[in-house]
Order: sequence, then structure tokens, then C-alpha cells
Amino acid sequence: MPGFLTLQGKRALITGGTQGAGAATVALFRDLGAQVLTTARRRPEDMDEAMFIAADLTTHQGCETVAEAVRSRLVGVDIIVHMLGGSTAPSGGFAALGEAEWQAELNLNLLPAVRLDRALVPGMALQGSGAVIHVTSIQRLLPLPEATMGYAAAKAALSVYSKALSKEVSPKGVRVVRVAPGWIETEASLRLAERLAQEAGTDVEGGKQMIMDALGGIPIGRPSKPAEIASLIAFLASDRAASITGTEYVIDGGTVPTA
Ligand SMILES: NC(=O)c1ccc[n+]([C@@H]2O[C@H](COP(=O)([O-])OP(=O)(O)OC[C@H]3O[C@@H](n4cnc5c(N)ncnc54)[C@H](OP(=O)(O)O)[C@@H]3O)[C@@H](O)[C@H]2O)c1
Repeated sequence: MPGFLTLQGKRALITGGTQGAGAATVALFRDLGAQVLTTARRRPEDMDEAMFIAADLTTHQGCETVAEAVRSRLVGVDIIVHMLGGSTAPSGGFAALGEAEWQAELNLNLLPAVRLDRALVPGMALQGSGAVIHVTSIQRLLPLPEATMGYAAAKAALSVYSKALSKEVSPKGVRVVRVAPGWIETEASLRLAERLAQEAGTDVEGGKQMIMDALGGIPIGRPSKPAEIASLIAFLASDRAASITGTEYVIDGGTVPTA
């Protein structure tokens, strides 16, 4: 019996696909039959070389390298998942963010998507079909000033850019959708919980609770799992979601407190 969801015959580029929600999305897309090319700065030893291209996407050259690999290895693309994002800014609020910190947040969270879309979306429009998923964050709705103001602002910019792109290319058959996660229980965020726990003299559950408290609580009582983010993205990228474009899906266990 055919499954509810298939990505059979789809060529997909997934950025940031070696860790966290990106790795889960790569695994699910492959399970669902997609031909996947993914990218990060370092290839994990257990990842097939044929499906990986190494690049630093914070640079124009890195984005060009990936776009060229999409053209030569996938010979076009049907789905782009812009998973790459994060923050390296120091804590300390507004005053701690100088020119270099702001530039770094934009280079990681906004410009890779803009550059890769500029290189690859025209081909999708020519073929008359495609799906582009921009992974934003609930911080674009719920910004936290202490350490991630620049990140939140860059994700908000990504969201507005995504909406504008959807208006232009949806009439040409290319859907553009945003996914806004809340806290995802990735390996990196578990390390953060462990560090907070150590500093406060509590256990890892206590550290996780501290992260949830900083978000104002999570009504389901836990962060999302990377596989849950991947499931939403797979659905939105599939032909099942053929009438969904120009909108954002929040996946946060109820964290955002407003309707
Ligand atoms: N984790 C959360 O709680 C959370 C919450 C809301 C939104 N999000 C968003 O969800 C998405 C996934 O987050 P995540 O936490 O699952 O990611 P993650 O575990 O931090 O993984 C980041 C991925 O991006 C790659 N990467 C990092 N810097 C790169 C660069 N300069 N060039 C190319 N690749 C680079 C990493 O590999 P290399 O290090 O080898 O390059 C890795 O594959 C992001 O857009 C994030 O903003 C996350």
C-alpha cells in the first residue's frame, strides 16, 4: 500500500544537514525516496560522499560552490530546505552587539538563503515547479534580548524575504513556505542544558527546565524533537501540500503565548 507521504523522484538540497533538525530532515527525505544533496562545513565520517558538498555558506563563494554542485550532481532541484541557522553572538544584550556580530548573524541566518535562492529558484520557475522551505524561528515573533537579538532580527528578515519571494514565484509554480521552530532538543541544545545544570548545581532535567523557563514555559512540557521538525518539513515540501505557499508554520509545543 502506498504511504501517505512520498518524495519519490524529488531532487532535494538541504543545508545544515549534518546535525540537529537538518540531519533528521536528510534521513527522513531519504526514507521517503528523495535524492538528497546536503551541505555543511565538515562531512561526518558516516555520510556518503556522493550526497555531501562541503562549503561555508556564510560566504558568497560557499553558496556558489553548493549551487554548482546542485546543477552538476542533481541536474536541477525540486526542493530546497534552508535549514542553516544559529547564533554565535555573546550575551550582554544590545550593547554587546557590534558591527562584526550583526554582520555574522545576517551572514548565517539571512544571506545563505537569499544567495542560494537567487542561484536556484530561477531554474525552478523555468521548470514550473518547486518547493522552498525557509526555517526561521519563533524568535522572530518572540525575540529574546539577552544573547539572540541579532539572531531574532535576522530570522525576522528571512521571514519577510520569504513572503516577498512567495508572492513573486508562486504564480510560476514554486511554493515558498516558512517553518518556525521553538526549542528543538538537538545535541547542541542538550549540551547547553548540561552546562546550565552544572553552573546551577542541578541535573540535566533542571537545565532543560531553565531553558523552558527562559522561553516563558512550553505548554507540552518538553522541546520538539528533530524528527518532529523533519516531519513537518517533509509534508510541506511534498505534493500533499500543493496549495500551501506564502505562510509560516510554528512548531513549538505551544510556546508562543499569543494566537
Ligand atoms: N535548536 C533550536 O532550539 C532551534 C530553535 C528555533 C529555530 N532553530 C532553527 O532551526 C534550524 C536548525 O537548527 P539546529 O539547532 O537543528 O542546527 P544545529 O544542530 O546547530 O546544526 C547546524 C548545521 O549547520 C551546519 N553549519 C553551521 N555553520 C555553517 C556554515 N557556516 N556553513 C555551512 N554549514 C554550517 C552545521 O555543520 P558544520 O558545523 O559542519 O558546518 C550543522 O550541519 C536553524 O535554522 C535554527 O536557527 C533552532
